[in-house]
Amino acid sequence: MRLNSPQINIITKACLKASRSLIRDFGEIENLQVSTKGPGDFVTSADKRTEKIIIEELQKAHSDYGIITEESGSINTANKNNRWIIDPIDGTTNFLNGIPQFAISIGYEEESEIKCGVIFDPIKNEMFCAEKGNGAYLNNSRIRVSNKKKLKDALLVTGGPRQSSKIKKEIFSEFVEVSNNILSPVRKFGSAALDLAYVACGRFDGYWQRELNYWDVAAGIIILKEAGGFVNFFEENNKDPLKRNILASNSNIHDEFSNLIIKKNIE
Ligand code: IPD
Ligand code: CA
Ligand code: CA
Repeated sequence: MRLNSPQINIITKACLKASRSLIRDFGEIENLQVSTKGPGDFVTSADKRTEKIIIEELQKAHSDYGIITEESGSINTANKNNRWIIDPIDGTTNFLNGIPQFAISIGYEEESEIKCGVIFDPIKNEMFCAEKGNGAYLNNSRIRVSNKKKLKDALLVTGGPRQSSKIKKEIFSEFVEVSNNILSPVRKFGSAALDLAYVACGRFDGYWQRELNYWDVAAGIIILKEAGGFVNFFEENNKDPLKRNILASNSNIHDEFSNLIIKKNIE
C-alpha cells in the first residue's frame, strides 16, 4: 500500500487490534443467536469493548488528540486541530443478527478537514483506506468509483429511516421516487460506512441517506473522494454539526442523482 502518513498507520494498527476481539464476539453472537438468552446486552458490550481497544491504541500514539465516538461521546474537546472520529461497529443490527456486513470506521481530521480514513470489514478481511492526495485502496489495490454513465442504469444503495425519525414518510416517498427512475431495485445493506466504501470501489454506483451521524461517514467521505467520487451534503443541518444527509456517487451520474434527490427535498 502506498499510504504512509503516521495517522493511517496508527488507525490501521488500531483496527487490526480491535478486530481480533470483534471477530471473537461475532462468533459468540452466532452461538447466542440460537440460545434462549439471545444476544441483547452482549452487543452493547461488544460495541463498548471494541471502542475501548481503539481509543487505547489511538491514545497510545497521541494522548492529546480530540476524539468523537459513538459510544463515549467527545474526548479532549479543546483540541480542534487533530481529531479522530470513531464508529466501533457500523452495522450493529447486522452484527446482532449474525449477518457479516459491519465494519470499524475511523477517520482523522486536521482543522476540521478529513485527512485520512479507514473502514475495516473484519469478517471479509477487507480494509478500505485513503489519505488526502494519495488515492484510495482496498487492501493493497488502488480503487476507483464505477464508470456508469446514466442514473437509470445505476445500482444504488440507501439506509434508514431510523425508528425515531420524524420524516419517515418523506424518506419512503423519496425511496419510491428514486426507484421509479432506475432499472435495478435499490439496495439496503445496513452499514453506512460499507455503503460508502462500496461506492468507492465501484460495487455500487451511488448512495444516499438522511439523518446520519458524522462517525457513520467520516472515513467513508475521504475514501470516496480519493477514489474519484463526489459527495453532496444536501440540506446540511446547521443546528447539529454532527448530523449529516449525504449523497455520494461516481462523477458521471452525480448531477442527475443530486437533482433527483434535492429537487424532492424535505421541508
Ligand atoms: C447505522 C448504520 C446503518 C444506518 C444507520 C446508522 P450503527 O449505524 O450505518 O446503515 O442506516 O443510520 O445509525 O448504529 O450500526 O453504528
Ligand atoms: Ca454507525
Ligand atoms: Ca455503531
